[in-house]
Amino acid sequence: MTNPNRVRKAVFPVAGLGTRFLPATKASPKEMLPVVDKPLIQYAVEEAYEAGIRDMIFVTGRSKRAIEDHFDTAYELENELERAGKQAMLDLVRAVVPADMNCLFVRQPRSLGLGHAVLCAEPLVGNEPFAVILADDLMTGLPGGPGVMAQMTAAFLKQGRSLLAVQEVPLEHTKRYGIVKGEPAGGPLLRVDEIVEKPAPEVAPSRMGVAGRYVLTPRIFDEIRSQPKGVGGEIQLTDAIERLMQHETVYAYQYSGKRYDCGSKEGFLQATVELALQHPEVGASFRAYLQTLDI
Ligand code: UTP
Repeated sequence: MTNPNRVRKAVFPVAGLGTRFLPATKASPKEMLPVVDKPLIQYAVEEAYEAGIRDMIFVTGRSKRAIEDHFDTAYELENELERAGKQAMLDLVRAVVPADMNCLFVRQPRSLGLGHAVLCAEPLVGNEPFAVILADDLMTGLPGGPGVMAQMTAAFLKQGRSLLAVQEVPLEHTKRYGIVKGEPAGGPLLRVDEIVEKPAPEVAPSRMGVAGRYVLTPRIFDEIRSQPKGVGGEIQLTDAIERLMQHETVYAYQYSGKRYDCGSKEGFLQATVELALQHPEVGASFRAYLQTLDI
C-alpha cells in the first residue's frame, strides 16, 4: 500500500491578474514570462516533478490559454522539427510533459483570492494531501541539492502535517508576506502558533515570511469553504491556515535555497541575471558581457 503521506498532486493557482506586471500581463499570463529560456510555470512544474509529484492541477482564469497550450502536444511544431531533423529541439519541446505526467485544468471564474483558487481544485485533489506552488515565486535549491518542494514532500512523508515554506525577510518587507511565529520543532521545522497576512513591521510577530510553497492536508478545503472574506474582500489562504491550526499542527519549513519574487519587476530581473549566469549555454558569455558594463 502506498504511504498516505506521499504527496502525489500539486495545485498551481495561475488565475491572478498580475497587475504588477502590466502591460506585459494585459493579454498573456505572468506565469508565461520567460526567465532566460523557460516560462515561470515550467520551472514550477519541474520542481514538483522532481519532488515525485505527477498530477499537475492548474487553476486558470481568463487570458491563460497559453499555459494550457504550453503543456499540450504541439503537433505542427513537432512535425516541423522532425522533418528538419532538429532532434535536440524536438527533445526539448517533448520534455515539457514527460510521459508519466498528467496535466489537469480547472477554471477560477473570478479572481476571488488565493484561498478561493485553491478551493477550485478540490474536485481534482480529493481527500489527500497536496502541494500548492505559486509559480511567480521562482525557487531554487542549493547547488546540487534537492529543490524546495522535494525538501518539503520528504518532510511531510515523515510527519504528515501541513507545511509552509518560510524564510527570514528584512523587517521593512513584512508587509509583502504572510508572517509566522513559531517554536523550534527540530531541524528546519517550526511549530506555527501565529500567522498574520502582510503585517506592518511594527506589528509583525517575527521576520519569518511565507514563500509560495505549501503542502496542505485536505482539511484546508473545509476551512476555506466556511470562512468569511478577508483582507481586500478576498478569500485568503492565510486565513484558512489560521483556522486549520485550531484543529491540526501546522509547521513552517525553513527551506534550503533561494527565492526570487518574479511577481515583482525587481525579483524577476534578479532571477533573470542569476539564472543566466548559471546557464550552460549563455552563462560564460553573459558574465563577460556584464563585466564590460560601466556600473
Ligand atoms: P498575487 O497576490 O501575486 O496576485 O497572487 P496576482 O493577481 O497574481 O498579481 P498582482 O499582485 O496583481 O501583480 C498570488 C498567487 O495566487 C494566484 C496568482 O496567480 C498568484 O500565483 N491567484 C491569486 C489566483 O490564482 N487567484 C486569485 O484570485 C488570486
